[in-house]
Amino acid sequence: MADSLPFSQACENNRQPILEQLGQVLTEPATVLEIGTGTGQHAEYIASRLPHLHWLPTDHPDNLWMCRQRLEQADLANIDDPRLLDVGNRPWQLPPFDHAFTANTSHIMAWEEVCRMFEGVAERLPVGGTFCLYGPFNYHGTFTSDSNRDFDRYLRARAGHMGLRDIDQVTALASELGLALKHDAGMPANNRFLVFEKIR
Ligand SMILES: C[S@@+](CC[C@H](N)C(=O)[O-])C[C@H]1O[C@@H](n2cnc3c(N)ncnc32)[C@H](O)[C@@H]1O
Repeated sequence: MADSLPFSQACENNRQPILEQLGQVLTEPATVLEIGTGTGQHAEYIASRLPHLHWLPTDHPDNLWMCRQRLEQADLANIDDPRLLDVGNRPWQLPPFDHAFTANTSHIMAWEEVCRMFEGVAERLPVGGTFCLYGPFNYHGTFTSDSNRDFDRYLRARAGHMGLRDIDQVTALASELGLALKHDAGMPANNRFLVFEKIR
């Protein structure tokens, strides 16, 4: 029963805007790694509407179960079986991929894990490949909305390692790894869609 599957209302709300962004970036047949697949709603929605993409869903061992049933039921030929991926556990045991996508993970992971995530992606992306990130980010040390400030406060109270990341910090990390920020779009609910391209 679809009703009994793990479900995120936020995913339901943001999947179409994310699809539109990804559809503009990922125009050619390609394999896409998804990091932190969560409930699998993004994987199912995007892969079913962008059939030229081959989707590799992954998640941390604690949460991989969340997407399994949904993706099994979806039974889409262009979605691989979900794989375990803890970004902090390198080297990653994954097949090759051309692009990577992740939603709402950089404020959940510790900063050190965000670094490992970028390192792992940068190490494997071919030149011209992209790393697309969706989520809330700060700009030059400032929250972009009161709701993001409240969300950050909530996260830090829940676990000290969580919290919104700053675009300057993320861009500097990416740049050191040969990933250049090519696109930064405003999204509903004070989120952003960032596209980094592997340039060397
Ligand atoms: C807030 S959920 C977002 C899930 C989904 N992408 C979405 O937008 O609804 C954060 C996700 O990050 C994953 N995650 C957290 N730490 C991770 C790690 N070290 N390696 C891989 N995934 C991780 C969690 O398992 C979870 O699926």
